Amino acid sequence: MELQELKKAFVDAYGKEAEGVFFSPGRVNLIGEHTDYNGGYVFPCALSFGTYLLIGKNEDCLMRFKSLNMPEVTELKLTELTKPLPNNHWVNYPLGCIAQFLKKGVKISQGYDILIWGTVPAGAGLSSSAALEVVTAYAFNELLGTGYDRTTLALIGQASEHEFAGVNCGIMDQFASAQGKQNHAIFLNCDTMEFELVPVKLEGIKVVISNTHSPHKLDSGAYNARVAQCQLALEQLRTVRPELKNLAELTEAEFEKIESAITDPVAHRRARHVVGEVQRTTDAVKALQAGEIETFGKLMNQSHVSLRDDYEVTGLHLDTLAEEAWKIPGVIGSRMTGGGFGGCTVSLVKDEAIPEFIEKVGKAYEEKTGIKADFYIAEIGDGARRIF
Ligand code: GLA
Repeated sequence: MELQELKKAFVDAYGKEAEGVFFSPGRVNLIGEHTDYNGGYVFPCALSFGTYLLIGKNEDCLMRFKSLNMPEVTELKLTELTKPLPNNHWVNYPLGCIAQFLKKGVKISQGYDILIWGTVPAGAGLSSSAALEVVTAYAFNELLGTGYDRTTLALIGQASEHEFAGVNCGIMDQFASAQGKQNHAIFLNCDTMEFELVPVKLEGIKVVISNTHSPHKLDSGAYNARVAQCQLALEQLRTVRPELKNLAELTEAEFEKIESAITDPVAHRRARHVVGEVQRTTDAVKALQAGEIETFGKLMNQSHVSLRDDYEVTGLHLDTLAEEAWKIPGVIGSRMTGGGFGGCTVSLVKDEAIPEFIEKVGKAYEEKTGIKADFYIAEIGDGARRIF
């Protein structure tokens, strides 16, 4: 949808012009999965699709929310902004961000009309919720003149997800949405929040996203269960290494020496994934910087295997897409991306192999699952911004 059409949709919904239009992107993670809430490294990039937010003041002391995908307008009084709505209402994502401003002592004495339009495929694990959170935080930061930096805006989004959506996520998605840069991936240390923007210059290779169309069930409790299993592993390791701050601190060699302290076999597998994935992520970034793209691809494949066998967040849909991709000679690497349990894979594919990739992977996937996959060539875009 063009900007003009979006602005017209705002006029249709609220009977006046929008005062500002903001955008924040979805993300795809190249490597470094389920490491963020363990203080590890991640390597995501922002995408060209994301969530738009149009906003204008009102004189009614009401916060009004409308999404172009839903017919109704949700209206809240300014005194009703600190509690989530029941039944996993979509408004909880932006509302949870507004609540964080209030929590920080910022006064909101003015009503606003808000219109949302998202272009991230829903349920694909490409962070449509983070895009919605960050675009809200970004817009209110400007309108309220709070001057928070982008990292703080990402943290506001994460807090919204924890407190209003009940998902104990790490910082990766909101950070990528806030800090993304065109044609760069973000090498982020999720413990210190230090990051480096690494150019993704792939000669004759594209980043291809394959959508299982099997919804990822991030809110199903399976994600929070992984967070809790890692916490258990950490607590058990602390019986022999009391000063250990997080799992990601351990090298693989250090982990081998003390892993027997983890008595729970599931927690042990989860921790082994985290420690290995942090190493793979560091190695992958070095390989990319050195132009060793084949090495990068192998590490992507190893990441998938570890997420399949040790972290157990893949399943038939993601495994079929990744494993069928590995069979094609022009595929450099392929793995699940995001939280897992459905959603998407990310693959590096040589230009000339893309038609074969889409045809063969798509056909094998449909035969096995009865679902048609979708394929997108990823465009790596910029982070949150005002567009009008
Ligand atoms: C989801 C979460 C992120 C991260 C990934 C897995 O996308 O929101 O914080 O944990 O899963 O890497």
